[in-house]
Amino acid sequence: MLTRPGSQGKSMMFELKNVTRRFGKKLAVDSVTLAIPQGQMVGIIGRSGAGKSTLLRMINRLQEPSSGSVHFAGVEVSGLRGQALRNWQRDCAMIFQQFNLVPRLDVLTNVMLGRLNHRSTLMSLLNIFTREERVHAIAALERLGIEQTALQAAGTLSGGQQQRVAIARALMQNPKMLLADEPIASLDPLNAKIVMDALRDINEREGITVITNLHTLDTARSYCERIVGMAGGRVVFDGQPSELTAEAVKEIYGTDKDGAGIDETLTSTSLESKRRAADLSSGMVAKAAAVH
Ligand SMILES: Nc1ncnc2c1ncn2[C@@H]1O[C@H](COP(=O)(O)OP(=O)(O)OP(=O)(O)O)[C@@H](O)[C@H]1O
Ligand SMILES: [Mg+2]
Repeated sequence: MLTRPGSQGKSMMFELKNVTRRFGKKLAVDSVTLAIPQGQMVGIIGRSGAGKSTLLRMINRLQEPSSGSVHFAGVEVSGLRGQALRNWQRDCAMIFQQFNLVPRLDVLTNVMLGRLNHRSTLMSLLNIFTREERVHAIAALERLGIEQTALQAAGTLSGGQQQRVAIARALMQNPKMLLADEPIASLDPLNAKIVMDALRDINEREGITVITNLHTLDTARSYCERIVGMAGGRVVFDGQPSELTAEAVKEIYGTDKDGAGIDETLTSTSLESKRRAADLSSGMVAKAAAVH
């Protein structure tokens, strides 16, 4: 949790101010300014190379801005060092297209690795986890509907299951924000739906801000209350799904070499927009504790 001086009592607004990132002569992100209130579910869309991943990586400081600044609850995140930086990286958990699990470790241990920034170096080095951490990890797995995989090596799971493990690991960080870089790009439509439903559920129940890069317009429309469209490193659209007109889509995705407009169906995974039927019960922690 954020306990840095000066953050108490301030609104947990997340802000990017004129954030720019160059790679040599390439302007990957070009003066992006955004303000995101706590609890929003935001989809970032744009064609390949638009700067989506670079923008996300600058939020949790996997990459540094060339200029501009990032703020959370009045604190300049881009200025944090040492433990304060690690605290920030814990507060904004990240999940990736390729899951980034440790394939040979069992699922439960992978999930508990989400606690690394909460624990002493010695405990981490010895890979000792407390009973409370185990209970918390099992509850997170249960919440994602994959508790039966707890003792399996993570590498033996399907892609959809692995992404759910990655989300469970992110939840172990008790994050304020969840950053997801193309979380469903490697998944079939059914698993994509399960993963997006899980992100939405976390957003709605815990009020965790979710910022996710998405390739598919229909997913962004179905799941995100706010859509940010990027082109050439700049924000060219910022609004609600209903405001995303054909013209706005054309501005985001541009036209192809023959001058034809973007065909929106090309960005579709024909993902159903209806919510997951499975109800994620609030008594899961107690249940997990009873099991173990
Ligand atoms: N480490 C890097 N070194 C050099 N150029 C980079 C680096 N990372 C990104 N770029 C360039 O910056 C631009 C934006 O890349 P980025 O990965 O942010 O795009 P993206 O919108 O995430 O694309 P995609 O949809 O393909 O994932 C691209 O032109 C890319 O080649
Ligand atoms: Mg990307």
